[in-house]
Amino acid sequence: MSKESWREKRIEQDVQYPDDAHLKRVLDQLGTLPGLVTPFEIDRLRNQMAEVADGNAFLLQCGDCAELFSYCNPQQIEAKLKLTLLMSLILIHGARLPVVRIGRMGGQYAKPRSKPTEVVELPNGEKRTVLSFRGDNVNGLGLDERVPNPDRLLSAYFHSTATLNYVRSWISSGYADLHAPHAWSFHHVQSEYLQREFSRITDSIVDTLDFMKTVGADPSSDANHVLNTVDYFISHEGLMLEYESKLTRETEKGAYDLSAHTIWLGDRTRQLDGAHIEFFRSIRNPIGIKVGPSMSAKQLIDTLEIVNPDYEKGRVTLISRYGAQKIDDLLPEHIRAVQATKHNGKVIWCCDPMHGNTVSSPLNPSVKTRIFADIVKELTSSLRIHSAENSRLGGVHLELTGDEGVTECIGGSMQLSDEDLSRNYLTYCDPRLNYEQSLDIAFILSEVLRAQRKGAADVSDAIVNALAHSIDEDSDSS
Ligand code: PEP
Ligand code: CO
Repeated sequence: MSKESWREKRIEQDVQYPDDAHLKRVLDQLGTLPGLVTPFEIDRLRNQMAEVADGNAFLLQCGDCAELFSYCNPQQIEAKLKLTLLMSLILIHGARLPVVRIGRMGGQYAKPRSKPTEVVELPNGEKRTVLSFRGDNVNGLGLDERVPNPDRLLSAYFHSTATLNYVRSWISSGYADLHAPHAWSFHHVQSEYLQREFSRITDSIVDTLDFMKTVGADPSSDANHVLNTVDYFISHEGLMLEYESKLTRETEKGAYDLSAHTIWLGDRTRQLDGAHIEFFRSIRNPIGIKVGPSMSAKQLIDTLEIVNPDYEKGRVTLISRYGAQKIDDLLPEHIRAVQATKHNGKVIWCCDPMHGNTVSSPLNPSVKTRIFADIVKELTSSLRIHSAENSRLGGVHLELTGDEGVTECIGGSMQLSDEDLSRNYLTYCDPRLNYEQSLDIAFILSEVLRAQRKGAADVSDAIVNALAHSIDEDSDSS
């Protein structure tokens, strides 16, 4: 195996460029550019993921379904970061565990498509078949930009760089300072329940810090500057192997893909004999693997054997995305299959309650949406099943936006309805949780993690409580 051996395998979702010489010029240039992240940072994430696998930390991976280059602006980057920090604070408070934050950001441009072409209707009513839009790093959304253009790979690199640069400077300039949680934006949240819960958490943090200062254990002293800043890692789907491969660099410890701290293998590109798996097994980064309904238990174990033959703890995160109706039939068997091998205790189980729950809007079948109740059901089922199977849910993987007033998913404490979708539906890919819906999820999860911490053997009661709170209190206040 080498970092080039994927080239001998079949490449699913491959992109055909019209001009090979042009592609080569771009790839040569990418090969000379510095990595976005360093092997040192990747190793730090590897260590943190081992802690997640051991149950000593919880994983929060979230961000856009697909970034557009135009999302690379201070407002949208800040909004996503703030929301992620808020959610992680809520989870830390419930679970009393460190949260490993990973953004679907700074490179989440390419999208797998079920069909290479689509039929579009022109303003004059004429129907035309065009190449599908495959993400800003491949082609453009405009009908005259659908031919794949290699320059977009370079553009992706520079937009990722600019995004990450902003993230790094924003974090290092102290926004994530835990001493001033009241400054964290919560003002436009409408739900009184969420407002109250968040105040409770920030008051308790400020109280604890004051107390520690009083007894002479000031956690803000330089030696403990961990409270003044946070780690934030970036990730994307490792779909475009030419791009990933050009940003992969050999070191004496092995090959590191420096396009992101971690990448995941999509549900459509995880064939055992395919190029993607071959590439993923060659890098030292922690990796995610999407596990959908079409994954058999045998294929799951065969996949783990290929990508993690040394049973390294935390190397693989299994991101399950079955759908609320299917999880009960599928997850227990997958958990048991892993438990019967040496991968037991080495993998991280992470729930993606988004991708198995995409439906057509009843009002307008051409609009994709997700029902908040389905998302919560898959997440709470996952918690319940792991607990019943003597396993542990190590993290959650969400598609969300920090932008205000987005209406793409139905339900949540804002009680968005199907009619609301047309108000501010912005995604051109999958529907995302909006600000409040994301916080709803964080509070529900936090409550269940708190019950687990307190020793609840069965989390069912905690789930019922968490749901009752968020629903009852809200209808009181509305
Ligand atoms: C995604 O995470 O954006 C995605 C396409 O998911 P999946 O591969 O699970 O369908
Ligand atoms: Co998606």
